[in-house]
Amino acid sequence: MVVVIDGPAGSGKSTVAKMLSKRLCFKYLDSGAMYRALTWKAAKVKLNFHDDEQLCKLVNETCIRIESTDDGFEIYVDDVNVTKEIRLPFVTENIHYISNNEFIRGKMVELQRRFAEGENIVAEGRDMGSVVFPDADKKIYLDADIEKRAERRYSELKAFDGKSKLFKVVEDLKQRDYQDLTREVAPLKQVDDAFYLDTTRLTREEVVTILIEEIKKISK
Ligand code: DC
Repeated sequence: MVVVIDGPAGSGKSTVAKMLSKRLCFKYLDSGAMYRALTWKAAKVKLNFHDDEQLCKLVNETCIRIESTDDGFEIYVDDVNVTKEIRLPFVTENIHYISNNEFIRGKMVELQRRFAEGENIVAEGRDMGSVVFPDADKKIYLDADIEKRAERRYSELKAFDGKSKLFKVVEDLKQRDYQDLTREVAPLKQVDDAFYLDTTRLTREEVVTILIEEIKKISK
């Protein structure tokens, strides 16, 4: 069974997808982590982010591997564990160069489908229901007010680097929303057959409970 969760940054997708996969004993796929991993490598090798040819070459030469763990997953780039580093600002700031590239997206879609092959999986991202798994058994779209999304991101970042400022997080989120929604290839999209849930006033446990009830409906 394939369950997909799409939605904007800070909508609670990652936390909820991880909790849901644990509750259902499904595999968990954080597709954003794959785009982050390639961005990490491009930055490390000091590649020119404006050079599309080099970016395409990079994806062909890079091995991205995800290992499922009790806590979620670990992600490796050419055998280097980058699970923590892919959350750093230098990755987030440059990721649109990678996620806007059609050739790279094609390669990522292949990897994501291969990861899910023959598995029960909860996959989260921006184009899981629209492009990667259009025949998913359950499609979910999570959303929340920008203030709430910024608050959530701010707490995560504060725990990570202690230096982030709330107003900067709001500005960054607005910019990422714009980039995600207006991207020519596979933009963030709520597909017609998705179950929409606004998580602004819900705890993560409440969200998971609602989603489990929704998923139960398909197995009846
Ligand atoms: O979910 P996240 O914040 O870790 O995602 C990081 C970026 O990757 C996000 O700005 C958009 C991009 N992304 C994408 O283009 N397609 C996906 N399926 C997942 C993420």
